[in-house]
Amino acid sequence: MAAQRIYSGEFWERIIDDAIENGVPESWQESIFDDEHPLVDAFVERLPDGARVLDFGCGLGRNALPLARRGFRVSACDVAEAGSRFTAERARGEGLAIEAVGCDGDSIAMGDESVDGFLAWSVLDHVTLADATSLTLEFARIARAGALLLVSIDEDKSKDPESVAEVLPDGTHRYTGGRREGMLFRPYTNKEILGLFAEGWERLVFEGADATVHRRGLFRRVR
Ligand SMILES: C[S@@+](CC[C@H](N)C(=O)[O-])C[C@H]1O[C@@H](n2cnc3c(N)ncnc32)[C@H](O)[C@@H]1O
Repeated sequence: MAAQRIYSGEFWERIIDDAIENGVPESWQESIFDDEHPLVDAFVERLPDGARVLDFGCGLGRNALPLARRGFRVSACDVAEAGSRFTAERARGEGLAIEAVGCDGDSIAMGDESVDGFLAWSVLDHVTLADATSLTLEFARIARAGALLLVSIDEDKSKDPESVAEVLPDGTHRYTGGRREGMLFRPYTNKEILGLFAEGWERLVFEGADATVHRRGLFRRVR
C-alpha cells in the first residue's frame, strides 16, 4: 500500500481563501523586490531578457507581479490553486500576463527544459523532506541548462511559543494547534538544504549558514 502523503494544502487553501476574501495582510504584500538585496538583484540581473520564470509557491503573487513588470514571462503555481489564479488575475488587472500552472504538491505541470529561472521563496520549508526532494527533481526536469534558482528557507519556528507541533519521523513539524494548525514546517540543517541541490546544480551563493533567520541560496542548473 502506498504511504499516505503528508502535506499542508488544506492549511494553505484556508489561509489564501481567507486573504482573498478579507484582504491581503501587509506581510503578504511587500515584495522581495521592494528592497535592495544583493542576492535577489543578482538573480534578476543574471536572467536573460524575456526569460521564463516560475514563481513556485507564489502565494498571492507579491513576487510574481514585479517579475512580470520587469518583462519576464512569468508562470506561477501554488498548491492552493486560488493563489495562482488570484496572481494571474492581478496581472491581468495591470495589463500583464502571468500563466497560472498546476502543481499538486510534488509535481509541476510544465514541460521538460522549459524554465530559465525559479523562485522558491519560503516554500520548501513547508513540505516534508521527501516532497522537497521530489520538487527539486521536478525543478531539475523543467529547468533549461543554466537556469537559475533562488530559494529561501525560513527560520526555525520550534522555539516560538505558538509552535504546538508534532514531529514527524523525517523531522518535519506538523502544527496541531494555534494559528498554524495544519501547517508543515521543516527545520532544515544547512547540509540538508545544500543536499537538495547537490546534484545537477551549481551553488553560486548560500547566505545565512550561521544565522537563525532566513537562509537563501542561488543555484544554477548544470547538465
Ligand atoms: C510562506 S508562503 C510563501 C508564499 C510566497 N512564496 C511569498 O513569498 O509570498 C508558502 C507558500 O507555499 C505554498 N505551498 C506549500 N506547499 C506547497 C507545495 N507542495 N507546492 C506548491 N506550493 C506550496 C503555500 O500554499 C503558500 O502559498
